[in-house]
Amino acid sequence: MKKLIIGSLSFLLVACGGGGEGGNITVDTGFRDYNELFVPLPENALYPADNPYNAVKERLGEFLFWDPILSGNKTTSCASCHHPDFGWADGRRFSIGHDGVGAGPNRLGSQVTDIHSPTIMNVAFTGLTINSQLSSFVSGGYFWDLRADTLREQALGPIQNSIEMLGDEIPVADALPIMVERLKAIPEYVELFEQAFSSENAITPENIGKALATFQRKIISPNTRLDQFINGNTNVLTQQEIVGLNKFIDGGCARCHSGPMLSDNQIHNDEAIINDEVVRTPTLRNLSHTAPYMHDGSRATLIDAIATYEGRDDLETPIGEGDFADIAAFLNTLNTNSFYRGKPERLPSGLTVGGSIN
Ligand code: HEC
Ligand code: HEC
Repeated sequence: MKKLIIGSLSFLLVACGGGGEGGNITVDTGFRDYNELFVPLPENALYPADNPYNAVKERLGEFLFWDPILSGNKTTSCASCHHPDFGWADGRRFSIGHDGVGAGPNRLGSQVTDIHSPTIMNVAFTGLTINSQLSSFVSGGYFWDLRADTLREQALGPIQNSIEMLGDEIPVADALPIMVERLKAIPEYVELFEQAFSSENAITPENIGKALATFQRKIISPNTRLDQFINGNTNVLTQQEIVGLNKFIDGGCARCHSGPMLSDNQIHNDEAIINDEVVRTPTLRNLSHTAPYMHDGSRATLIDAIATYEGRDDLETPIGEGDFADIAAFLNTLNTNSFYRGKPERLPSGLTVGGSIN
């Protein structure tokens, strides 16, 4: 066993010059000034100036998120792959799209995405760094390759994707016009769009994206133990968690995983973590809810994900097996169970809430 014993940490602090007990990184139980690397997640969602919050828009967005009417065959919704029971991801390595039945790991079907579904929790803060001005902040970019600049642009992607929601019957070019016509035929949606956007004929692709973005911005998870710690409440972390935090920094992890999201949301060319594929740095919040990990979902557990970095020579001090448990303990301070997990009881379309996920 190469596990550290908490009681011996203070001895290790003196005795361990690197490499002790199977870990490569010197054990440091002391507090540092962490404010240059981390800041608490804002306690309220942020909304961009061109898509401000209103309650009707948020409720409309929630209906649209769960409504399979936006899929070709009316069985698949955003919640098919971003479900509150699975941390607003889907608990799968790859997602099952428009012919799927069931939710999460039990979902069955043949239309499979080629990349892992990330959580939509905290997407209001994607791209937020220590230096961001909250008042003028615009979140983004999105997707593993950052190909969508904004959240409202992102939302139209899955609706036009033949594997995810569209299916093969409808040509991509017709997808959005058809969805608009479907919504226009439902008086409750007509009214909700008019109220949300204070205009007539408000059912447009752009406004579908804006409503979906507004709903998703609601789903945030501030005030974890790490946020409290960074705010000055030093009692909330255990000694092992502080050791893990210091190892995380000394191991070079915070070069990419920093700021309120523990992510710089950047693509680091020539620094692929898995195989040769470079993707943007993901957030490290709520990992207890969102296994499996990485863009290919290839790491089943948090320890597996951390072990991916073992011995990498581009890290400041490459981490070793004896460091994994401490870093995992630290990352677990970023979890919370108190995030929004509501689900509408009915939909304006009259279709089954969420589609064929039950
Ligand atoms: C079939 C499964 C599936 C469905 C349905 C689906 N998504 Fe996704 N979602 C994914 C996958 C997979 C990705 C990652 C794709 C990529 O990065 O190329 C993703 C990425 C995202 C992201 C980007 C998150 C980030 O951090 O960059 C958001 C936001 C999102 N989806 C919202 C939605 C919305 C809104 C809907 C409904 C309109 C939806 N998704 C429908 C599987 C799905
Ligand atoms: C060069 C930037 C960089 C550094 C340094 C870095 N990471 Fe990452 N991290 C990434 C990227 C990019 C991914 C996604 C890789 C992929 O999916 O192929 C990732 C993914 C992860 C994940 C999985 C998250 C998820 O939701 O799938 C964990 C956990 C993680 N990193 C922890 C660490 C730890 C611990 C360290 C230090 C030992 C570290 N990272 C150092 C960029 C970095």
